[in-house]
Amino acid sequence: MEEQHYQLLDGKAVSAQMKKEMAEEVAQIKAAGGKIPHLAAILVGHDGGSETYVASKVKTCLEIGFKSTLISFEEDVTEDELLRKVDELNNDPDVDGFIVQLPLPKHISEQKVIEAIDYRKDVDGFHPINVGRMSIGLPCFVSATPAGILELLKRYHIETQGKHCVVLGRSNIVGKPMATLMMQKAYPGDCTVTVCHSRSKNLKEMCLAADIIIVALGVPEFLKGDMVKEGAVIVDVGTTRMPSSVTKSGFKLTGDVLFNEVAPKCSYITPVPGGVGPMTIISLMRNTLLAGKKAIYK
Ligand code: GUN
Repeated sequence: MEEQHYQLLDGKAVSAQMKKEMAEEVAQIKAAGGKIPHLAAILVGHDGGSETYVASKVKTCLEIGFKSTLISFEEDVTEDELLRKVDELNNDPDVDGFIVQLPLPKHISEQKVIEAIDYRKDVDGFHPINVGRMSIGLPCFVSATPAGILELLKRYHIETQGKHCVVLGRSNIVGKPMATLMMQKAYPGDCTVTVCHSRSKNLKEMCLAADIIIVALGVPEFLKGDMVKEGAVIVDVGTTRMPSSVTKSGFKLTGDVLFNEVAPKCSYITPVPGGVGPMTIISLMRNTLLAGKKAIYK
């Protein structure tokens, strides 16, 4: 069969465009004497990935014109101390939204911390109120990775109605919300959705039946060429840091898709890096802007 020429879903380019749009809006808010959106981020410990992501979020805030505050704790911070900081941010009228970067050290309950955040400032969309509202299609903060993927599909006018979408992975922050959104009566959405995970059987057959595959397993190069139908749309959420001797940082971000095998079969595919990653950060910025404008909750 003739090889199909695939198109990249360029998250880097789309996020740059969105950044420009938001910077213009913030400039207008400033000119009109309105309140500058303010995002605070709590970082615990020194996980390399988390430090990089939070630094990137803070940098993007400044580029757009938002105010940002970084609050760092050592690994041994107590749950009580962390909860006190959450409470302080909940009650700080200047802070429009804030995030607690995950994962947290084992001695701290992530669920307890998430539930302590005022849902009106929960720009990560992790609080049960936001998750619940999302699942029944009410206005809310949608978590950044799924929201970024939807925006990417939308800006490339990817057809989704009636398509079979396979979501690989069932995490609370990607797989579950992604499946919920892809089945929603909306665009992008209106898909027939199948969720597969580490205990699924017939995974290959499921994937071969898919028009759209969203891979969020965290298993480097899991999706191979023989698991993908000709013309499929592939979204790769994986960002595993693999040791590398050729990059300055000493690692290379590796997706969940074996790109060289899969890409020639696709109509559209996200690269790693430069696909879902930048869309995740820019979606957090979008939520921050909505929080600043009190567009979702008063
Ligand atoms: N860890 C991995 N992804 C995320 C995210 O979107 N937000 C936060 N707070 N932590 C994460």
